[in-house]
Amino acid sequence: MTTPLLEIKNLHVTIEGKEILKGINLALEKGQVHALMGPNGSGKSTLSNVLMGHPKYQVTGGEVLYQGRDLASLKTDVRARAGLFLAFQYPTAIPGVSVVNFLRTAMKSRFGEAFQPKEFRKEFKAAMAQLGIEESFATRYVNDGFSGGEKKRHEVLQMALLKPELAVLDETDSGLDIDALRVVAEGINRLRGPQLGILLITHYQRLLSYVEPDVVHVMMDGQIIQSGGKELAHELEAKGYAPYETEKAPAP
Ligand SMILES: Nc1ncnc2c1ncn2[C@@H]1O[C@H](COP(=O)(O)OP(=O)(O)OP(=O)(O)O)[C@@H](O)[C@H]1O
Ligand SMILES: [Mg+2]
Repeated sequence: MTTPLLEIKNLHVTIEGKEILKGINLALEKGQVHALMGPNGSGKSTLSNVLMGHPKYQVTGGEVLYQGRDLASLKTDVRARAGLFLAFQYPTAIPGVSVVNFLRTAMKSRFGEAFQPKEFRKEFKAAMAQLGIEESFATRYVNDGFSGGEKKRHEVLQMALLKPELAVLDETDSGLDIDALRVVAEGINRLRGPQLGILLITHYQRLLSYVEPDVVHVMMDGQIIQSGGKELAHELEAKGYAPYETEKAPAP
């Protein structure tokens, strides 16, 4: 058996003394797209924050392996260099840092010696054009006054250039209009391939009709209570989460 790209084993996570994740198990292989769905407050963003190494979240049990290595032992910059991409790693505005400079720096740290400054402009322009991003976007400050759609396009632009091996995308506050959603979905689909694994956290069946997941997980109250194929997302759309309430593990 090959080592999964991402393996989460019996992960327990606490925030300020309150247990939020109560034994998560998930294995994602290279080339797969997994969708993680679940009602508000079920712990989806907590999981992405833990993968990011956010200091506020305390892992009290279990482990997360990235390419077979204990993720907790990898520093944030090492994670990026090893091809791990977390969409909300830079959620806040970075005044004074333009999109183009931000991406140049990010690519240098991702590719090190292999980074070719002369090729960068060309690659950058091509990626922007493919995503239908206006040229003036390059000189704007990162996330400074970006609309929801612009933030998402910026994320996909980063992915296109940084060529991650695992991307964790939390679509919580997307609020994308139909056109932006399609652009983002097409961007993700273009990047999709045998070298990239994607964990897509979303509420929206609509996004999943553009980006077809290989596996869908349903999270409830800090546990993954069901996993299945893409039809599971359709079922959720039709019936909501209520039928799953009864499947939750009984309180001890
Ligand atoms: N930093 C924090 N401090 C205190 N409680 C937190 C913190 N982060 C998350 N929580 C709590 O953990 C629970 C899970 O939150 P989380 O954001 O992971 O849910 P979610 O599944 O992403 O929800 P949504 O669908 O609304 O985005 C919630 O009860 C939330 O209030
Ligand atoms: Mg969330």
